[in-house]
Amino acid sequence: MNKPVLSERMQAIEDMVLPGLPVADIGTDHGLIPADILLKGICPFAVLTDINPGPLEKCRENLRSFGVDPSLYSIIQGDGFDPIGDGGFGTVITAGMGGELIISIFEETGWSVTRPKGEPIAKRYVLQPRTHADDLRSYLTETEFRICDYRLAKERGRICEVFAVELCAAGEARSDCGLVSEFLLGKNDPLITEFVDGKIRKARRIFENASESENKDAKDAAEIWRATACLLEEIRRNL
Ligand SMILES: C[S@@+](CC[C@H](N)C(=O)[O-])C[C@H]1O[C@@H](n2cnc3c(N)ncnc32)[C@H](O)[C@@H]1O
Repeated sequence: MNKPVLSERMQAIEDMVLPGLPVADIGTDHGLIPADILLKGICPFAVLTDINPGPLEKCRENLRSFGVDPSLYSIIQGDGFDPIGDGGFGTVITAGMGGELIISIFEETGWSVTRPKGEPIAKRYVLQPRTHADDLRSYLTETEFRICDYRLAKERGRICEVFAVELCAAGEARSDCGLVSEFLLGKNDPLITEFVDGKIRKARRIFENASESENKDAKDAAEIWRATACLLEEIRRNL
């Protein structure tokens, strides 16, 4: 029998799932994360969704080949949180998509269903944005969510950000909108130095390219990126 093999990134996602409660995986694609969760008995039931039929075929085939009990999961095609609007989940995973897409999922299919009848659809959301992670973190922590876990994990040589959020209790809201998550900085993650160095290199590269331009807007942008690189270097010195 085949077994799901999780990358470090996928393992970090699995580690943040609340055990003993149903889990939903939005944009599941291959379905490896929920398959592994069910085979290990971490959660009693899983809903696997994807907007496209092709990935769901692959996912169905994978779960069959891993021997996952079909009574423990359902596979539903749909957009964002639409297929899970009734709620009742411990954890909703949304991983491997761009941060902007995850924001639009929260705004377009999530916001209206986040609290149907006053209840959230899940206790916890585990997120792994491939891009625009800072925008997603800022968006969520400026609204109703607080970060409850944050980890860096490597996949194919690239550092990925994995974080979990939960709805805040009244008066508990605390934004986390800096260049690097305050929560992450407080965690002493083994990859934090490499992560911040990568951000500094990116800011310097954009600054250098933009500063060569004769265009005024580009020059203004260059100044912002120079200041960003300086702030990141300050963060780096304090690690
Ligand atoms: C790169 S895969 C990520 C697979 C898996 N979640 C992971 O982290 O390894 C992204 C998947 O999200 C699906 N997707 C894109 N937009 C979506 C949406 N609005 N709702 C649900 N699924 C979506 C795509 O079809 C694709 O299968």
